[in-house]
Amino acid sequence: MQSAEEPKGELVIRTIAMPADTNPSGDIFGGWLMSQMDLGSGILAAKTAKSRVVTVAIEGMSFLKPVRVGDTVTCYAWVEKIGRTSMIIPVEAWVQRYMQGEVVRVTRGVFTYVAVDPDGNPVPVQRDV
Ligand SMILES: CC(C)(COP(=O)(O)OP(=O)(O)OC[C@H]1O[C@@H](n2cnc3c(N)ncnc32)[C@H](O)[C@@H]1OP(=O)(O)O)[C@@H](O)C(=O)NCCC(=O)NCCS
Repeated sequence: MQSAEEPKGELVIRTIAMPADTNPSGDIFGGWLMSQMDLGSGILAAKTAKSRVVTVAIEGMSFLKPVRVGDTVTCYAWVEKIGRTSMIIPVEAWVQRYMQGEVVRVTRGVFTYVAVDPDGNPVPVQRDV
């Protein structure tokens, strides 16, 4: 069953929530989910900047619904703003429930990346035009 809302942005990472990603109560760790969002949006940031990038800030992080073992987790991201060296990238994680068709948004957050040189110093984001 599809939710009324649809994911927007680019599919940047897809994985499955595994038993190893749980806390002692059997729920999926929020930190694991945030790391998937960071990995996915980092891929988009590096592709956009065409350079190494680092995460400098995470804002507005919300955990909206629980994630369960076996759920398929998909992160969607889009570039909202490009500064001189920084990029603001909103990210959402959606899950398809294990053995069900239901698709629900489980998190959202806004990740900021900075393009850096090999020494970790900020460098201007390379623009296509
Ligand atoms: C990212 C980093 C290189 C920035 O260095 P800096 O000396 O603060 O550089 P600047 O002040 O020139 O800022 C660079 C850009 O980052 C932005 N920025 C810096 N701190 C920010 C923050 N807390 N939130 C949002 N943007 C921020 C600046 O606005 C600037 O953007 P712009 O060039 O588009 O205008 C440095 O803070 C760093 O290495 N941080 C650690 C990153 C890291 O290890 N991440 C993984 C954590 S495990």
